[in-house]
Amino acid sequence: MILVTGGAGYIGSHAAVELLENGYEIVILDSLANSSYESILRIKELTGRNFEFYEVDLLETEKVENLFRMHNIKAVMHFAGLKSVGESVSFPLDYYGNNIAGTLNLCKIMSRFNVRELVFSSSATVYRTIGNQALEESSSLGANNPYGRTKLVIEEMLHDLYRSDPFWKIVILRYFNPIGAHESGKIGEDPAGIPNNLMPYITQVAIGRRPVLQVFGEDYDTPDGTCIRDYIHISDLVKGHLKALEYLTGPPGIETFNLGTGKGYSVLDLVKEFSRASGIEIPYQVTDRREGDVPICYASAEKARNRLLWEAEKDLFEMCQDAWRWQAMNPYGYGVIKT
Ligand code: NAD
Ligand code: UFG
Repeated sequence: MILVTGGAGYIGSHAAVELLENGYEIVILDSLANSSYESILRIKELTGRNFEFYEVDLLETEKVENLFRMHNIKAVMHFAGLKSVGESVSFPLDYYGNNIAGTLNLCKIMSRFNVRELVFSSSATVYRTIGNQALEESSSLGANNPYGRTKLVIEEMLHDLYRSDPFWKIVILRYFNPIGAHESGKIGEDPAGIPNNLMPYITQVAIGRRPVLQVFGEDYDTPDGTCIRDYIHISDLVKGHLKALEYLTGPPGIETFNLGTGKGYSVLDLVKEFSRASGIEIPYQVTDRREGDVPICYASAEKARNRLLWEAEKDLFEMCQDAWRWQAMNPYGYGVIKT
């Protein structure tokens, strides 16, 4: 039995489907702080499989312990966390409290129940990005916002945990920019309020919920002046998690892997590819740079290829097609009308 924390969210729901479709038994824990119960129903509908769902916060120790008591958990995929960079700047204590204390609590409970296999969602935001180089797992680290710092602290905490008890098996996955949706269009990204991220903003412009996309700066030192990112299809990303689970069947240890494609595309590349995939022109206006954005960020995907035997397969066109299918089939996401 695999415990999926944050399994009602964007990445967790796709991972849950992938696990169920590959024959795993799962149980989902999610506070629904940034998601809705509808996604749980969709996972069940899509897979035809049943599982237990607990609307529980990781900080509710007794309830989490009960879950461990009731299910024979072998490993945990830990997605639960708050993820908005801007919000983390305004409410740092919420981020430290939720992300760090939540993970700390989870690890303590796992130890208590002798569950020592963990896949943790980290982020490319932990890298100190300098210039135009593929980021390797050994590249220098340094986050520049509270959200990123919670990921760095958790990574270090997990290393300390392994040093203190070498029976742990831990995989830290540093995601680059996950976009797209399950090819069925039944589950996808459903941001609350105004999207912070590029792809959900584009799809909301395409469906008519927003009038125009703001492109944050076109004076970067890149071929078209807009920032470059390593976009990765959510389906490829979650396949990487199953490889990580398989990796955990090996000897104890702690290992970190990038999950990216190794290719960078600019903001305008993504806008153009989306129009090609959807047939819809995306009106945009160039505005000032967004504070904290780095010009170029893309992965070296070598380590995951060599050690996890995983690599991303879907291209930018498929990412755009699938993101659009989800938005077109679900104009208001999971059904709650939001502005
Ligand atoms: P999401 O917000 O869609 O999903 C996270 C889920 O965790 C939500 O359903 C939320 O309700 C739940 N949650 C939050 N705090 C909780 C708590 N204390 N107890 C129980 N449930 C809680 O976000 P996502 O995009 O699916 O991200 C999943 C993980 O991947 C996060 O840890 C995030 O930081 C990390 N990550 C995401 C991205 C990205 O671009 N989406 C990039 C890098 C890393
Ligand atoms: N952008 C726009 N307009 C928008 C939104 C974004 O021009 O409305 C631009 C940004 O300036 C950036 C690019 O699109 O150049 C990508 O921005 P996103 O917000 O989609 O992604 P980021 O690379 O800034 O950050 C994302 C997550 C972080 C995570 C990071 C690395 O938001 O949490 O990827 O994984 F840490």
